Amino acid sequence: MTLSIKSKLFQEIVDGLQANPASISPKFFYDELGSSLFQAITHLEEYYPTRVERGIMDSKLAEITEAIAAVDVIVELGAGNCEKVRPLLDTVAPKQYRALDISVDFLEVALADLHHDYPAIDMQAIAADITQELSFPDLQDRRILFFYPGSSIGNFNPPEAFRLFLNLARECHGSGGLLIGVDLVKDIHILERAYNDTLGVTAAFNLNVLRHLNHLIGSNFSIPDWEHYAFFNQTLDRIEMHLRAKSDLLVSWPSGARMFHAGEMIHTENSYKYSKPTFLEMLQKAGFAQVTAWTDPESNFLVCFAGFK
Ligand code: AVJ
Repeated sequence: MTLSIKSKLFQEIVDGLQANPASISPKFFYDELGSSLFQAITHLEEYYPTRVERGIMDSKLAEITEAIAAVDVIVELGAGNCEKVRPLLDTVAPKQYRALDISVDFLEVALADLHHDYPAIDMQAIAADITQELSFPDLQDRRILFFYPGSSIGNFNPPEAFRLFLNLARECHGSGGLLIGVDLVKDIHILERAYNDTLGVTAAFNLNVLRHLNHLIGSNFSIPDWEHYAFFNQTLDRIEMHLRAKSDLLVSWPSGARMFHAGEMIHTENSYKYSKPTFLEMLQKAGFAQVTAWTDPESNFLVCFAGFK
């Protein structure tokens, strides 16, 4: 990553720590250990989204492929381990695959594995912060399929999500489209279990952000001083994750410091859950003329293709 991106991130982190309530963007979860901990989460019995989305992709692959039709390049947002795109590489067979992620070291290893299995597809790993405006000037004359699986869209609030859809619809130039997975609103117990697993992997994932911050800005967070807290906010339809101070604490970093009182929290993640009609309407309003959706038998998760036909 370039120096200007680094100093921008530094400022963003410090601003969040000084805010009331304090917050840390969930994009900072994903250092190398954080990416591995998220991978571990996807294997937990309680964490259904990854498994259910894979089930939909597998069982509806023919229909999904038909809806996508012909594209030149697949651009995956937050590609992580680059595993979710495999079925699409088989059936859609693009000439090019471009994987974007904030955690580029993790991404490069994953992409090398993938390229080994698909040597004919041109592949690129790109360090990108997708909370910023995206543009792909070199892909202007290509048909692009944006692939955004895993319900990571849930980290954006609905207006920010809508802005991303507008951005992607514009970058499509009237062809290709967006294949996106989103978690649906459901029984609160199922939702809260998924973010409070009994092994404590989600707690470790949440707490790890403090270790990552210590590395990024030279802060002195002590992990044992904090505890994981996650619940479903039924007013805003979102899982909220926080880190709660177990006692009065002073945290410092080279350019500043902050006092946290016992019980005070740092907001680390929102994971918005949608209803099918709301989500489809957002995609349509963003300019995608044709929206098709697939779900699992229990309607736990939604996969949508938003295109222009
Ligand atoms: C990667 C953003 C989809 O919100 O479910 C998992 C991250 N946080 N457990 C989610 C996460 C806690 C995950 N996303």
